[in-house]
Order: sequence, then C-alpha cells, then structure tokens
Amino acid sequence: MSFKEKLLLKTKDIDEKLELYLPSESEDETGIIAKAMRYSVFAGGKRLRPIILVSVAEALGGDVNKAYPFACALEMIHTYSLIHDDLPAMDNDDFRRGILTNHKVFGEDIAILAGDALLNRSFEIMSKACALNNDCSLVKAMEAIARAAGAKGMLGGQVVDVINDGKKIDEKTLRYIDKNKTAAMISGAFEAGAYIARAGEETTRLLYEAGQNIGVAFQIQDDILDVIGDFETFGKSIGSDEKNNKTTYVTMFGLEKAKEDTASLSEKAVKIFKEIGSSMDFLAELTNYLIKRNN
Ligand code: IPE
Ligand code: IPE
Ligand code: MG
Ligand code: MG
Ligand code: MG
Repeated sequence: MSFKEKLLLKTKDIDEKLELYLPSESEDETGIIAKAMRYSVFAGGKRLRPIILVSVAEALGGDVNKAYPFACALEMIHTYSLIHDDLPAMDNDDFRRGILTNHKVFGEDIAILAGDALLNRSFEIMSKACALNNDCSLVKAMEAIARAAGAKGMLGGQVVDVINDGKKIDEKTLRYIDKNKTAAMISGAFEAGAYIARAGEETTRLLYEAGQNIGVAFQIQDDILDVIGDFETFGKSIGSDEKNNKTTYVTMFGLEKAKEDTASLSEKAVKIFKEIGSSMDFLAELTNYLIKRNN
C-alpha cells in the first residue's frame, strides 16, 4: 500500500470512530449544541494529531483499540481550539476547513459553548476508557493530553499569541508561541501514543522531541500558507495573520528561511524515527509529506 493510501485509510478510520463518540442531533432544546459540535468536527480536518497518536501506539506494539478514544478526544480538543481561535475576540476568521466558521453559522454564544462541550466530551471519553481498562498507562496518556492542551501548552501559546497582536515580538517569544500553541498538541499525540503502547522512557522522550520539531515546522508551514496559500485548498482565508498584525515566522525571517527551517526541523524528526527503527517509517513519511502540504 502506498503512503497516500495508508494516510487515506487512517483518516477514514478516525472519521468513523469520531462518529461513534460525538453526540447525535437530538430533537430537544439541546440539539443545537450537538449540531454545532458535529458541524466543525465533520467539516473535514486532516486528522493529523489522532493519526499520529494511533500510528505511534501501533508502531510500538500497542493495542490500537485502546488508542482510538484518546485519538478522538485529542481531535475534539483540537477542533474546540479552532472554533475558539476563529472567534471575533481572537482571530476573527470567517472560514475554517473550507466552510463558514462555527460562530458565523451558530452565533458566538453557541460557538463558545460547542467548544466547551467538545472539551468536556473529550475528557468524558478518555476517563471512561481509563476506567474500563483499569490501565495506568492510559491515565498517563490522558495526563499527557491534558497537559498538552493546557495553560503550559496549547492554551499558553494561544495566550501569548493573542496578547501580542499588533506588537513587535522578539524571537524567543515567537518560538514560545509556536512551541506551545501548535507543537504541544503534536508532541502530546506522540507522548500519549507512546504511553498507550507502554514504551520505554527513552523512546517516549525521543518521540516527544520529534513531535516538538514536527509541531514547530507545522506552524511555520501554516504561517507560510497564510501568505502564499490558495483559499480553496487551504480552507481558510489567506492573510489572516496580516489582518491581525501578527508577527509570524514569515514576517520575522522571510519566506525563504521559513521554508528552509520547516525542512530542517522535519529532518531532525525523521532522524529520530530512523534511530528508533523501521516501525516508524510511516511517521517519517508523514513528516516529509507535511513539508509539502498546501492545506
Ligand atoms: C490548524 O491545524 C491550526 C494550527 C495549529 C496551524 P490543522 O492544520 O491541523 O487543521 P485541520 O485540523 O486540518 O483543520
Ligand atoms: C492557532 O494558530 C493554533 C491553535 C491552537 C488553534 P493559527 O491561528 O495560526 O491557526 P489557524 O491558521 O487559524 O488555523
Ligand atoms: Mg490564532
Ligand atoms: Mg487562527
Ligand atoms: Mg494560521
């Protein structure tokens, strides 16, 4: 099977599992919240984080069925972060995943609540999986995800990002933003996958490090596409960062260096995968594929 075929299969797998975990649209007065949650989750994300989590667990000999609840929970947290990131109080964007943003369709109030509901549902799913399996390594995976999404991870990065809108920031601050708002959830996917497979400490640490490199490269590429991307393929408005007067990797270092650094950070991650062994081949291919992504 080619890399592209494997990726497609894994994406489909995650989409199917997500369907099982999302509430259905009931006819009662709370039906609107399920509708809003489903609207953004099923708008067609790349499913990068859950694919990483499941692939790591599988590559290290773990049980993929134990990995799915955590993978789906991670994607729900990611989707909530996107709904909130698009709100007028944050980036004020109109398009996401190729369709109107959540608040443009459901209003700001429901969009905020749909994000909250996705976050809560994710912890409901993970804690239930921990209890059902009575497995401490799953608790460690949940903790890794909670930490990745929290104030010392994605949220912390988002805070430093938004409070600096319109301000000149130094390199250290930019690196803090990229490492936290984006890389934290990606290294969290690697870490959680490793815990589920009960990997050794050194392998878990190496994978976390690879995730950090991929995550920063991923955000630099996002900054690049925000400038030179195509709306139809990217699925979100081009020039959002400029509109919000954000300092990004591109405004600080220029397009050429941004492209070079995306490649060299990815190379570092691939080197780690080679060190761990051939079971990591899919993740190495995924890393190289992401450098060339245009969505
Ligand atoms: C978008 O993430 C937000 C960033 C961290 C740059 P993705 O590019 O993974 O978005 P989806 O999930 O595919 O929509
Ligand atoms: C946000 O970064 C990353 C998140 C934690 C949601 P961006 O604001 O650049 O992400 P996009 O470009 O809106 O997806
Ligand atoms: Mg943002
Ligand atoms: Mg944004
Ligand atoms: Mg962006």
